[in-house]
Amino acid sequence: MRFLTAASISLLIPLSTSTSLPPPQYLFSNPPTTNDNIPSTYRIPTVHESAIQARRILHLESIGTLSTIFPSSSSNPSTLETRPEDVGGAPIGLMDYFADCEPGSGNPTILAISIATSFKNVASGSNITLSLRWHPPFSHIRPRPVSPASLPRFSLIGQLQELSIEEAKAGGVAECFVKYHPDAVAWLPGNKIHESKWVRLVVEELYWIGGFGDRAYIGWIPVDEWKGVTQEEVEKCRLPGESRKGWMGEWWDMVAGTASADKHPVWEL
Ligand SMILES: *[C@@H]1O[C@H](CO)[C@@H](O)[C@H](O)[C@H]1NC(C)=O
Repeated sequence: MRFLTAASISLLIPLSTSTSLPPPQYLFSNPPTTNDNIPSTYRIPTVHESAIQARRILHLESIGTLSTIFPSSSSNPSTLETRPEDVGGAPIGLMDYFADCEPGSGNPTILAISIATSFKNVASGSNITLSLRWHPPFSHIRPRPVSPASLPRFSLIGQLQELSIEEAKAGGVAECFVKYHPDAVAWLPGNKIHESKWVRLVVEELYWIGGFGDRAYIGWIPVDEWKGVTQEEVEKCRLPGESRKGWMGEWWDMVAGTASADKHPVWEL
């Protein structure tokens, strides 16, 4: 493979990707600490490096899934919705917008629309989790240049806390949020269509799946690691597919199976 030209590599992407797949037992768990299948020049990112990746994903992505739990029907008589009686206690994950507007703390900002199911469930006492994943550039290409199962994703478990009008103003929250979501100007707090308010998800726990378990960290990341990531670290970090410079680049070569294939980045073909 190392003698092929960059052009011919493009035909082999599915092949090189599939040859980079780890043994199935490591797809969703960490391997024993020594693994003869992995070249010694590669190493699994540390918990702190994984926290930096997570914070960069929060910074670059803007759409995630909010998971909440339906209240028992007796505790939430709804006049606006004919909800089946038997969904009480069932989890529901729904797409929503978030934005990295409080980078000092890493608490995502969310625009909570009062009539949206996720926020109705929270108002009825449900806990809430925000799940997100990294979509590298060109991830829409088919066949896929890399296995999505090899890419980082994580869930933030926490509590919603309302931002006061003054706090949102002082923090430039609306300007920040609209930069990520220009269409959201139509439902900012005070709009005529829907009642809405600014909330932050105060992160309490973080579950991280960095990719395949033989080459990425999988597990809980202490919340202090998440909060302690500096903006400089977030700026310097490059996620899989962003660039191949630095330690993440080598890690990416391993994930994408391009290390021995060619010096040309797969993403630029
Ligand atoms: C929310 O999560 C906490 C643990 O973080 C748990 O003690 C509590 O029972 C949960 N609340 C509901 C309504 O499930």
